[in-house]
Amino acid sequence: MNPALNQIAISGIRRFNDAVNGIPDMVRLTLGEPDFNTPEHIKLAAIEAIQADFSHYTANAGDPELRAAVAATWQSKYNLTYDPADEILVTVGATEAIAIALQGLCAPGDAVLVPAPVYPGYIPLLTLHQVTPIIIDTRANDFSLTPAMIDQAIAAHPEAHITGIILNYPNNPTGITYREEALRLLASACARHDLFILADEIYAELTYGQAHVSIARFARDRTVIISGLSKSHAMTGWRIGFLLAPAPITQALKKIHQYTVTAATTIAQRAGIEALVNGADDGAKMRVIYQQRRDFLLKALAEIGFSAIAPEGAFYLFAKLPARFAADSAAFCTDLAHADHLALIPGSAFGQAGEGYVRLSYAASDAQLHAAITRLRHYVATH
Ligand SMILES: Cc1ncc(COP(=O)(O)O)c(C=O)c1O
Repeated sequence: MNPALNQIAISGIRRFNDAVNGIPDMVRLTLGEPDFNTPEHIKLAAIEAIQADFSHYTANAGDPELRAAVAATWQSKYNLTYDPADEILVTVGATEAIAIALQGLCAPGDAVLVPAPVYPGYIPLLTLHQVTPIIIDTRANDFSLTPAMIDQAIAAHPEAHITGIILNYPNNPTGITYREEALRLLASACARHDLFILADEIYAELTYGQAHVSIARFARDRTVIISGLSKSHAMTGWRIGFLLAPAPITQALKKIHQYTVTAATTIAQRAGIEALVNGADDGAKMRVIYQQRRDFLLKALAEIGFSAIAPEGAFYLFAKLPARFAADSAAFCTDLAHADHLALIPGSAFGQAGEGYVRLSYAASDAQLHAAITRLRHYVATH
């Protein structure tokens, strides 16, 4: 067995879900995926693909038509040019794209900067590959990373061979995102320290009040964009992700992809073509609804003493616990689940920098959100 496996635990989200699983009549705002179903036109494209015998392997990098659709989408939505011939990989969800990128970009013994609170999908992969995560706690700056934080983290670890940074925005769990000027400055800090940027932009389509800007606009040569259809088209179960990067990187990572999965599922890739070519606005329709839910939750939470930064993207709200509960978010969430049958994710599931907070997902119906607030209000009034 790989001894590094002993250093990896089951994710805090999964552990919490398992712990409260048996409680009846639970309202869950724990979901990390859209509550919408996949749009009808995409489902029909998949049915047609089955009937037309799309049952063989595609090219390792992915169906050429899908790669062309990805290139056209990134050109028109994000003003970025990637060559579908050798700069795009279709992966098994964003998760596979993250895994092959971290495996391929880092050597054992390297270190990578990880702003936190952090999506739980990255650090275990680094650990498995004997790469050291260097955590940057962003709490003091309302969860926004600054170039000075990068400089400080590097200065504080002179012994480490720091080769990259993981940047996830719009962010899970905080919902924060970055505007053009901030990205330009972060990109130049990464260039100054010669860092690769793993830009997990899976929530790019779910950005409120402004269009998403990719950091690749300012650091194309050192950026690996991670994306996919899971959130933009409510297609988590189809497992279609995308990796976009300069050809030397993509072609190197393709080797890991080939030997790990061969290619993503052919039928799901055909559905993906339909999603990008004829469903460019599918995400926008869902975004309007998420935004209404976000506004409802923000207001209702403030009324019962939970402050949160207004999320500018994704479908999570990271709320600060009232002081009397803030010492132990896991204890708070466990007790809330038992006493008032409401499941929220403890902030500590996103690292020590998440302690004192809870994550609420508003990928949930209005009825669930209203019930959640009623239950939370009752809990706070009685504890
Ligand atoms: C930040 C982030 N990256 C990646 C993923 C995984 O995406 P996929 O389902 O496409 O593998 C998620 C899922 O919750 C996520 O929140």
